[in-house]
Amino acid sequence: MTGPDRGARGLIKAGVMGWPVDHSRSPSLHGFWLKTYGIDGTYDRLPVRPEGLAAALRSLAEQGYAGFNLTVPHKEAAMMIVDELSPEARRIGAVNTIFVTPEGRLKATNTDAYGFITNLKISAPRFKPKLGPAIVLGAGGAARAICVALEDAGVPEICIINRTKERAELLARDLGISAVVAPWTDRALRLKDAGLLVNTTSLGMKGQAPLEIDLHHLPPEATVTDIVYAPLETPLLAAARVRGNPVVDGLGMLLYQAQPGFEGWFGKRPEVTPALRDHVLAAG
Ligand code: ATR
Repeated sequence: MTGPDRGARGLIKAGVMGWPVDHSRSPSLHGFWLKTYGIDGTYDRLPVRPEGLAAALRSLAEQGYAGFNLTVPHKEAAMMIVDELSPEARRIGAVNTIFVTPEGRLKATNTDAYGFITNLKISAPRFKPKLGPAIVLGAGGAARAICVALEDAGVPEICIINRTKERAELLARDLGISAVVAPWTDRALRLKDAGLLVNTTSLGMKGQAPLEIDLHHLPPEATVTDIVYAPLETPLLAAARVRGNPVVDGLGMLLYQAQPGFEGWFGKRPEVTPALRDHVLAAG
């Protein structure tokens, strides 16, 4: 991706669009990096209604933005508006990061798969894709990116298990991956021989029901990870930790997915550190 010409632009501007966007942790995350690296930049929070997305994206270049992040509900709709889609965005079927080129074109990508796999490799160094099948619970937007990441990492089999089975089948077909789809009621049995268990559903999130799953069949060396990060230790991760399985919380995916955007806009590869984690958690 083409980075901004920092010398010519002076203050570098980026931000996040969503509706609503109040809950986004991206401003605290990018704000921390801007301060840490002493970069003359801003990262704005922009509430944009779905019907205003095209106009908002089209005005980015004129307003001098280097780029933007997109969150719910804009990730899919933006695909039709931007000028260029990366192969990742095309495969995942959603956009989360946009770069404005010096010519004012909008180049879009999706860094969620990168964020997921980078976090997994760094936070669970013993995880080996070849260890066994990956069990993915859920079939929403997050599951799409995670399945792409797992396919690219070379897991021998992806098993998608969703409450609404048809949605899991659609996801596998859509992504063109040779995934196995199993019914929600089989989720405990499917853990036998698994090398990885990923929760991509909203179950376990503060205010939601916990994810009910018996981990009895899960091999002790299988890694367990959750995309939910509020709370940081979900009931699933707590149960896995007690059994001795390696566990990876969901905050890391959020932090790592932000790296490519920051680097493209502000010209500095930022580091994910314990101080960053603490800062983003404290920002609530
Ligand atoms: P996102 O795009 O952020 O992943 P989503 O598309 O709303 O969010 O997906 C939420 C996931 O959580 C879905 O897989 C959903 O299952 P359905 O496809 O059957 O709706 C899953 N989910 C939400 N509440 C659930 C519940 N009570 N039990 C089981 N799965 C649930």
